[in-house]
Amino acid sequence: MSELSVNHLLGIKYLNEKDIQLIFETADQFKEVINRPIKKVPSLRDITIANLFFENSTRTKLSFELAEKRLSADVINFSASQSSVKKGETLIDTVNNILSMKVDMVVMRHPNPGAGVFLSKHVNASIVNAGDGAHEHPTQALLDSYSIREKLGDVAGKNVVIVGDILHSRVALSNIFALKLQGANVKVCGPKTLLPTYIESLGVGVETNLRKALEWCDVANMLRVQNERLDISYFPSTREYTQLFGVNKALLDSLSKEIVIMHPGPINRGVEITSDVADSKQSIILNQVENGVAIRMAVIYLLAAKIKQ
Ligand code: CP
Repeated sequence: MSELSVNHLLGIKYLNEKDIQLIFETADQFKEVINRPIKKVPSLRDITIANLFFENSTRTKLSFELAEKRLSADVINFSASQSSVKKGETLIDTVNNILSMKVDMVVMRHPNPGAGVFLSKHVNASIVNAGDGAHEHPTQALLDSYSIREKLGDVAGKNVVIVGDILHSRVALSNIFALKLQGANVKVCGPKTLLPTYIESLGVGVETNLRKALEWCDVANMLRVQNERLDISYFPSTREYTQLFGVNKALLDSLSKEIVIMHPGPINRGVEITSDVADSKQSIILNQVENGVAIRMAVIYLLAAKIKQ
């Protein structure tokens, strides 16, 4: 039987190409399940999962919870703002207290890069990284590639440009790892100040002219400027950013071919993309959200299979 090469999902950089294909094939089956009138399977009736969110989330949090419930797991939710973390409790103490209630798996979003790796070394549970600071967001990258595969048939050989704040983006890093593993051609595009100096060492091209980047690509993944992570000003003004790196309908329609528009959310409408682009027929933004449930079901199911061994 096929199984993942890892016991935790801490980042795409720990996966191999076979892991990604296994996750996609498993997600295909769950996508079929969640489109049935009864959207639930009994697969994880004996598994308890804690969702620990130390940072805000809409899509990831709801999507993990729904995925767990669709698999019939028992679910507990933890929000740092309403917890004893506010009284000074450490991450390991918090998690070990939760695990003593017989929890098998922890899904965690945390503002600190490496928080998931740290936890995996200190507690006895399967850990799923739901976003760790500006480091990785593996399930987002998986659902992004899965959505490209669904729309274009394959990821291999496709030209994908990731546009925007690459420097602070865990979505960019996880996408680069995932797309490269699957044989896509990847470029990044944004203000030079928001492109890390090491980015070309990851095997991606750099393009600072948005029109050229869009003419080259099959898919443009538009990122939000992570204002909450900006300690200084990286560009003169939001207006100038939008003029140089925002996609509007006139620009989209002027390209020589029809490209696919993606965005991980949350969108700053009118900044990185206009509403008529976000809501256009070229946009697969809501397909990404839909696919997030099937992908997270697949990840949890495959990791739970390893707990049961
Ligand atoms: N894409 C994403 O991670 O969105 P949330 O922050 O709402 O979970």
